[in-house]
Amino acid sequence: MKNLVIQLTELVQANFESLGYDKEYGKVEISNRPDLCQYQCNGALKAAKVYKKAPIAIANEVAEVLKQEEVFADITAVAPGFININIKDGFLTNYINDIYKDEKFGCTVAEKPMTIVVDYGGANIAKPLHVGHLRSAIIGESIKRIGRYLGHSVVGDVHLGDWGLQIGMVITEVQRRHPELPYFDENFTGEYPEAAPFTIDELEDIYPAASKLAKSDEEAMALAKKATAELQEGKKGYIALWKHIINVSVSDLKRNYAALNVEFDLWKGESDANPYIEDMIKYFNDNNYTHVSEGALVIEVEEETDKKPMPPIIIQKSDGASLYGTTDLATIIERVRDYNPKEIIYVVDKRQGLHFEQVFRCARKTKIVCDELNFEFVGFGTMNGKDGKPFKTREGGVMRLQDLISIIKGNVKERLNDNDRISADEVDEIARIVGLSALKYGDLSNIPTKDYIFDIDKFSSFEGNTGPYILYTAVRIKSILNKAKEELGDFASEIKVPASDVERDLMLAFVRFSSVVESTFKDKSPNRLCEFIYEISNLFNRFYHENRILTEEDKEKKVSWLNLLALTVNILETALDLLGMEVPEKM
Ligand code: ARG
Repeated sequence: MKNLVIQLTELVQANFESLGYDKEYGKVEISNRPDLCQYQCNGALKAAKVYKKAPIAIANEVAEVLKQEEVFADITAVAPGFININIKDGFLTNYINDIYKDEKFGCTVAEKPMTIVVDYGGANIAKPLHVGHLRSAIIGESIKRIGRYLGHSVVGDVHLGDWGLQIGMVITEVQRRHPELPYFDENFTGEYPEAAPFTIDELEDIYPAASKLAKSDEEAMALAKKATAELQEGKKGYIALWKHIINVSVSDLKRNYAALNVEFDLWKGESDANPYIEDMIKYFNDNNYTHVSEGALVIEVEEETDKKPMPPIIIQKSDGASLYGTTDLATIIERVRDYNPKEIIYVVDKRQGLHFEQVFRCARKTKIVCDELNFEFVGFGTMNGKDGKPFKTREGGVMRLQDLISIIKGNVKERLNDNDRISADEVDEIARIVGLSALKYGDLSNIPTKDYIFDIDKFSSFEGNTGPYILYTAVRIKSILNKAKEELGDFASEIKVPASDVERDLMLAFVRFSSVVESTFKDKSPNRLCEFIYEISNLFNRFYHENRILTEEDKEKKVSWLNLLALTVNILETALDLLGMEVPEKM
């Protein structure tokens, strides 16, 4: 279906043309002064320069002919040359009924669907999943879902940190604790044990101990680095131990991400890029992209227009170990080979911005990607505590994700406990859904690059700009619709022209759904979609307080309202799903 704003644009363009002006000046936009009009055309201002006339003269001329058109209720030319537009309720209502019947509420799928890889999550093996990874998972999941909704073929990859120094630290720490294990016996020739030599709890204890030691003890650090390099070279015992680390850690991660409703298509990691590294480095060397600097192999990525220093990217350390940049470059080669994507989106802490700038530049310079491939870095800010510092546990440690989820769920549960609609056996599941919405909406409603303060009481409040408020609105609508169904049976029919301003405002907001979804995806800013559903919820709640829907005596009016409600909740639920949230049955 053709977007309403495009329909209006075509009509206004035709009128510009009929008066001898170029049609490019007929573009219609949503009004930025909704108090004055619904839509506006500012083309007369630009046309004035070309046609050497006063803008208001052109605006008046165009407004005069537009008045003949059926669809407009009110057209006014205002100084210095704006054309203010209001459309007839009938025209608006027809469009809203089309949206109501449309599977995607007027959203059209991309004309040229793209293959897109979204690199998000980014958890590190052997380290507990913490709040730092929360943002990547939440934002990335939403970007993936919206991309799919718009018809793109989106592949989500968790890109685990499974090949770096932390693995060397874990290996050496396991050796310190259990030197007798066969993984450390150079002469061992048998089969390595199938069972892991640690549980997830032990593993989570091993890493912090190892990391603490390595920080204070140079020798321990040297050993960890050596183990990392040897693992990367394929030392048999280390590879076997590393596989145990991966297995134990990944099953725990899968549980954690599932609890967040975050689903990855690919569970790949830095290590999957390893098979590509040797050839890649040979290619870089053969084509003279590399040089040696302080013993390390590097590639310059500076550009003439740089205003800030741009260090070269390190491809290989003197001990032969590969680095973060090496695996990222090799992963690009792997992704191009496997998916040939048009776009790769990285959802990572914005403090890694320089790293990705180096990686993208290097990939382009060395031509391991074609010019058409687009890299996008979605860098996000830090989640802070109320003290303005990165969010920590009360003891000052790193907050684990699962603990954070249970804290927020507990907070929501307290609010639900004195609610007589909810029975004791339902409360847990509802608290889970509502708690997740508090967490996710609290995050997504901010511009991704911004740091924000994790304020549990604010996020889990049922009032204000929060996830629970939006869910509550959806649940309220559903409950009205269920009651109406009991009384009327199937009431699906047409929505009638608005009987009040708030109904009209709601309809005008629905017109924007498609453009909001598109701009959210274009700018990778789910906060736009959050703003939109907050606005819809506010409008609906105003409508609800101004009218008695279920006891309305005019049957036709009542049925029309119920259909408007059905459209409202359909759009809310769709948008919530795009943001990775569910709606509970009750609240
Ligand atoms: N594991 C990394 C970290 O914890 C994030 C990975 C991001 N993705 C990437 N392709 N480098 O910071």
